[in-house]
Amino acid sequence: MERNKGFTNAGLLGYFLKGSLAIFVLSVAFNIAVTFLTALIPQIISFTVDSVIGDSPAEGVFLRFTELSGGREYLRGHLYIVAAAAAAIALVAAVCRYASAQLNNYAGEKMMQRMRNCLFSRIQRVPLSFYGGHRTGDIIQRCTNDAQTILTFVSGQLVPLVRLVGTIALSLAFMFMMDPVLAAIAAAFLPVVVGYSVFFDRKAGKSFKKCDEEEGVLSAYAQENLTGVRIVRAFGREKYERDKFERQNSYYTGLWVRLERFLALYWNSSAFLTALQLMTIVVAGTVFCVRGTLSAGDFIAFISYNTMLIAPVRGLGRIISNLAKARVSLGRLNAIMSAGEEDYGEMKPLSGDISLRGVKFGYGEKYVLDGIDLDIPQGSTLGIIGATGSGKSTLAALLAGLYLPSEGEICVGGKRYGEYSLASLRGHVGLVLQEGYIYSRTVGENIAAASPGADAEDVRRVSRIACLDGSVSGFEKGYDTVVGERGVTLSGGQRQRLCIARALLRNTPVTIFDDSLSAVDSATDADIREALARERGGSTFIFISHRITTVMDADKIIVLDGGKIAESGTHAELLERGGLYSRIYAVQAGLPEEAEGGAE
Ligand SMILES: Nc1ncnc2c1ncn2[C@@H]1O[C@H](COP(=O)(O)OP(=O)(O)OP(=O)(O)O)[C@@H](O)[C@H]1O
Ligand SMILES: [Mg+2]
Repeated sequence: MERNKGFTNAGLLGYFLKGSLAIFVLSVAFNIAVTFLTALIPQIISFTVDSVIGDSPAEGVFLRFTELSGGREYLRGHLYIVAAAAAAIALVAAVCRYASAQLNNYAGEKMMQRMRNCLFSRIQRVPLSFYGGHRTGDIIQRCTNDAQTILTFVSGQLVPLVRLVGTIALSLAFMFMMDPVLAAIAAAFLPVVVGYSVFFDRKAGKSFKKCDEEEGVLSAYAQENLTGVRIVRAFGREKYERDKFERQNSYYTGLWVRLERFLALYWNSSAFLTALQLMTIVVAGTVFCVRGTLSAGDFIAFISYNTMLIAPVRGLGRIISNLAKARVSLGRLNAIMSAGEEDYGEMKPLSGDISLRGVKFGYGEKYVLDGIDLDIPQGSTLGIIGATGSGKSTLAALLAGLYLPSEGEICVGGKRYGEYSLASLRGHVGLVLQEGYIYSRTVGENIAAASPGADAEDVRRVSRIACLDGSVSGFEKGYDTVVGERGVTLSGGQRQRLCIARALLRNTPVTIFDDSLSAVDSATDADIREALARERGGSTFIFISHRITTVMDADKIIVLDGGKIAESGTHAELLERGGLYSRIYAVQAGLPEEAEGGAE
């Protein structure tokens, strides 16, 4: 896939700018017009002082203007004509400035919209391993704050930058035309001012990066805390969590205070520098005026141009510092945009038996699954049992194609998983996660979440198989009941059954139930299994559980131990073997029902 190559930061900016670039350019064009028009005003002042009030002959455009408006004498008596011309120019400049600002805002919103869409769609597709290295709060912060920083830079800095550079160039050109010596004195200060600001901004850039990172940590704390609010309360960890947050918050605040102190130092010292520059020009200019080498009108215009010039020069520093900030943000978004993506490809129906040969897999260095050989004929049922941490969920994730094995291969219908598109694989294997995700939508919408075409009757049918219909009928609004965030208003068993119903509705040829009945009582567990057996048709069902009863009816049962298959066979065969399985069975059969969960 082309996008897997990743972006350079500039390339990413270009990608985000698609669709808004032309509008930004138009905005810049209006901006340039404003610059030209504004630069004319000091010329009019100079002309008025020297050639209308004074006696110097007018030149060029101004000579033509004098002739058209009835000669110098007439203009002297009707100064409002000059004022009106200046006002007309100012008016046109104002209209252009308005157009530029409107276009800039519009383009900015367009760009933000595109950034949000790009990021959201990429986040849906980054490989799952990406989430191992990034916390949710941090990802959210990147998508909000960092995107905003980039927008602020492009629409608030990059576009004005064109005007700043234009203003600086035009002002300098006029100044050199009026008095090269004085202009050289004025210009001599500029590299100092720019160099000074660049020096400060380099330093500020590093501090901004640190601030951004620490803000990410802070919002990750807050986010994790909100998500795990019940656990925090249940374990009485409020004080610990509050202290942890306050420590980070105080560290983060300290960083900003230091950064702001640093910036204030910069702005005030550079203000002193520019005041020094102005004073030098005023002194030198006065001397030139007294000597008669500079006219009064030109001197006034010169000072106007210098004022026009100095603000953008100082502004360059701010732009450069924001450039550093934007570069950091762009890099942080690039980490998401270049994280690679899962290529879903086209969905084609698969068929055939699943086989695993020498499958090894680890999340890090250590293998969690260590040499799994297994055949799962299409249409059969498989039970997987094993102690906690033995690799059951990992095996399920591999069977569902969420991860590819580090070694060995998993095939369906004789072809390796890697040869199929993800869309085909995910359409073939459905996985009911151990901790299924519930959206804060209605019960009905949650069940139909993975099957867009399903109607209310379908929803009710699968809900009956999952023994959820009874509970939902008891809700005030039935299937239209909105469940709280992550399903907090449902019981654990109801959540599990909802996830089962959702998977059944998808009706994939293979469905894996990862400990999906752990939170329902044994009687309901049996009811659901019975209904599933009845409705299974030709589908393959894989049950993962700690409970023998859940897996005992399967065509084949495997016992996982430390990432390896310790035993496999039917319930009867395994009992006869007298190994691990029969020991688990003996313990669970001998214990009262409530204690089953602990008997691994
Ligand atoms: N996303 C992950 N990143 C790193 N390690 C993981 C990850 N998921 C699981 N593990 C590790 O892999 C091992 C096997 O985990 P797995 O979830 O497959 O066990 P399990 O048999 O499903 O356990 P349980 O019965 O408790 O659900 C564990 O040691 C676990 O710490
Ligand atoms: Mg598990």
